Amino acid sequence: MKMRPHVGIIGAGPAGLLLSHLLASEGIDSVVLESRSRAEVEATIRAGVLEHGTVDLLRDMGLGERMQREGAVHHGIELRFDGEGHRIPLTELTNGRSIMIYPQHEVLKDLIAARLEQGGRILFNASDVRLADVASSQPGIHFVHEEQQVELQCDFIAGCDGFHGVSRAAIPAAVQTVSSRTYPFGWLGILMQAPPSAEELIYAYSERGFALVSTRSPELQRMYLQCDPQDEIANWSDEMILEELQARLATTDHWQLRVGPIIQKSILAMRSFVIEPMQYGRLFLAGDAAHIVPPTGAKGLNLAVADVRHLARALALFYSNQQTELLEVYTQTCLRRVWRAEHFSWWMTSMLHRFPDDDAFGQRMQRSQLDYTVRSPVAAASLAENYVGLPFDW
Ligand code: APR
Ligand code: PHB
Repeated sequence: MKMRPHVGIIGAGPAGLLLSHLLASEGIDSVVLESRSRAEVEATIRAGVLEHGTVDLLRDMGLGERMQREGAVHHGIELRFDGEGHRIPLTELTNGRSIMIYPQHEVLKDLIAARLEQGGRILFNASDVRLADVASSQPGIHFVHEEQQVELQCDFIAGCDGFHGVSRAAIPAAVQTVSSRTYPFGWLGILMQAPPSAEELIYAYSERGFALVSTRSPELQRMYLQCDPQDEIANWSDEMILEELQARLATTDHWQLRVGPIIQKSILAMRSFVIEPMQYGRLFLAGDAAHIVPPTGAKGLNLAVADVRHLARALALFYSNQQTELLEVYTQTCLRRVWRAEHFSWWMTSMLHRFPDDDAFGQRMQRSQLDYTVRSPVAAASLAENYVGLPFDW
């Protein structure tokens, strides 16, 4: 079987799905290939913080109806250390900007439903996905779908297949530069059936390690604990998790964590990673396929959104005027924001975690940075500006 869309999109994560919508709004035809089933994609628990610009874009695209109904707008976050909480008033410090708490898999459900309703093509359960001739003007994607061998011939390929996808490897090693860092800790993430313990997210630094209190809905809470990256989730009983959360979040005024049944738990690795360039011939990488940030700054999904917004604009200019100038500078355009988010995520991570081999000096540095961030409006404003997200074209 043969297909000939303008753009072949590999991966139905936030990057691939939003790109298909943005292209459709410009009259550009695409096919999305996804190796997993729709049910699996819609059930994968990831982060839940949408930057101001991400929220605006989803709303402007007509994709934000349920997000605006069910999501929660937050105007601040708390940094907690030495038994005390300090509010960073995000909205006050950023000229009225805010964040939206709305889980990534809910965004995906909305994007998939809207795309299929509009007659868009998303092929789930695609296997043996291979890229061909990416340096030519007619690249192709070969894959198996519903037991048929499919050949998709297109003008451009968007590699939106995440960190473990196949697209990145189509950029020859000789032209790739990879920058990366792994951290000597992971995050143990849980979902708990309980009411929220706080109105805003809490990022806590403690002697015992980092803890984060986030939320999913009035009935479901998301929390994380810094842990050994090699640890296995089977080593953590629910009681141990609760005890550790309570210990790391304890305040001198006896703040109480509201608890309930833990319905999901897993350990995730933390890494920073960037590949340059993000393009080769007619292949353009977007989202996690090109870069990873540790989740401390909640930037992963938002960076994917910014990439595909640039890519869609560049492709729109190509199809309307045959101009390639935005395509040519795609990597450069994306990387300014990517490296800003890499720095911010690394900085938040470094400030808030216990490093296993750290000495008294290192810990003093962290405390001083925390203290400065909560006491100086200028330092707090820098955190806030990055957290709510810089404008797309800053
Ligand atoms: N063929 C087709 N699809 C693939 C392949 C492949 N060979 N390999 C991976 N995929 C799919 C994955 O199953 C996944 O659904 O590509 C999709 C990639 O989605 P994400 O990993 O979510 O990546 P991205 O869309 O870039 O989203 C950015 O931000 O919050 C962070 O990491 C989080 O997922 C989030 C990311
Ligand atoms: C989440 O809700 O999953 C979440 C929130 C903030 C982060 C990371 C994850 O920094």
